[in-house]
Amino acid sequence: MSLYVEAARVLKEPGVSLKQKVYNRKKPLRSSPGRLYALLAGYMDHEEQVKAIVKEVGSFNIKGDKDAAVLVVYDLLFNRKGISASKNHPPPFIKEILKLETRLRNIYDKVVGENANTEADLSPVRWFRLNSLKVQDDQVLKWFPSLELVEQFPGPKQIMKDKYVDGLYGVSPEYGSTLKKNKHYIEGEIILQDRASCFPAELLNPKSGWCVVDACAAPGNKTTHVASKLIHTGGSVIAFEKDPQRARILQNNLKLHGADQLVETRVQDFLAQTEDRNVKGLIVDPSCSGSGIYGRGNKAELDPERLIRLAAFQSKILKHALTTFPEAECVVYSTCSYHDVENEGVVCEVLQDEEIAQNWMLASRDEALPEWPRRGNRELFEEFNMDPSLAESLIRVERGTDGGIGFFAAKFVRKHYNTEPEWQGFSD
Ligand SMILES: C[S@@+](CC[C@H](N)C(=O)[O-])C[C@H]1O[C@@H](n2cnc3c(N)ncnc32)[C@H](O)[C@@H]1O
Repeated sequence: MSLYVEAARVLKEPGVSLKQKVYNRKKPLRSSPGRLYALLAGYMDHEEQVKAIVKEVGSFNIKGDKDAAVLVVYDLLFNRKGISASKNHPPPFIKEILKLETRLRNIYDKVVGENANTEADLSPVRWFRLNSLKVQDDQVLKWFPSLELVEQFPGPKQIMKDKYVDGLYGVSPEYGSTLKKNKHYIEGEIILQDRASCFPAELLNPKSGWCVVDACAAPGNKTTHVASKLIHTGGSVIAFEKDPQRARILQNNLKLHGADQLVETRVQDFLAQTEDRNVKGLIVDPSCSGSGIYGRGNKAELDPERLIRLAAFQSKILKHALTTFPEAECVVYSTCSYHDVENEGVVCEVLQDEEIAQNWMLASRDEALPEWPRRGNRELFEEFNMDPSLAESLIRVERGTDGGIGFFAAKFVRKHYNTEPEWQGFSD
């Protein structure tokens, strides 16, 4: 009997506590009691989320013990060590679950991860991007004929075309919740991606043929977006992701969205990357507090030490991006946090570095989505004794008010590429 089948039976047995059911039992267990206890205790901690994921996947039609299957889903998604079964010869019901792994992981991300939503805490607009890696002509309005095209945030039967990001559309949250069943979504022709999260690729605006690095790539929304800007130009993307499980999601998403030929995935720490002269542009979107994301509430505010640790890590990653690629012309840094310390704080800290300040500057507002009204926080520049007008170069997005998640983006350009060449001698 597999661990999961036995654990599902133990879970259903009467008993005062889990400990008692596992360790004080008459009938001995076949599985290791420690492993079985850890599995069930972990599952019970996340029961609501696991059940929500299983419910959402819909086509979850496993022959045999359904309760055991739910425990496999828990192990697959929540346990860092993954499931307890042979990778090459898993039992048939685990094999069935593994076939749904990408879908399960995408739902996991929505239920507990980056895109988590709660009923009371929903984006006013659900954004989706036409995937130009798969579809050349924009036929979105034909695909949704029942929706009326409007220019403001859409109501339940309306759709808006965004003016900042090409091929980006917004629908109401009610309509948005049906998109996951839409055939264009299932086939990877449209990608659910918040508007602000599209800004980094827009800001980078890679030139034809560029090699672009996405330093922190999974699940790959920005990777596919920037790849779509390089298609048919001879350009390419290198996507770094240090977490092997998240790298698998990244690779599956790249495949689904037709980006796998353009993108090389490197499952490694970006900080271990050494000099590369081919790279011309970078997107740096490191792990952050996620305080701008729906469903996260203000948890990050409770732990200022964590914020300081995050900011130190973010500065380190951004500095590495600015100092390791001698031919890079542009680096875009972003977070989905509203905390100054992770945003303007990191930008100012990085620009205090002499070598970086010699080579890099913030792009002017004219080169950084000039029409976007909400700009950076001037006070941080004052605190760092820097020119507060630099805040105009930065992008801020306020959660809810601006139609989606809270976000921050900064575009750095190499000084050499942006200034007139210096006069080098005499000419007549
Ligand atoms: C905020 S998420 C990136 C989201 C992604 N850019 C997107 O738009 O889909 C940050 C990712 O960076 C990865 N990461 C963190 N530190 C890293 C490092 N040193 N090298 C490579 N990846 C890293 C994390 O595992 C996580 O998947």
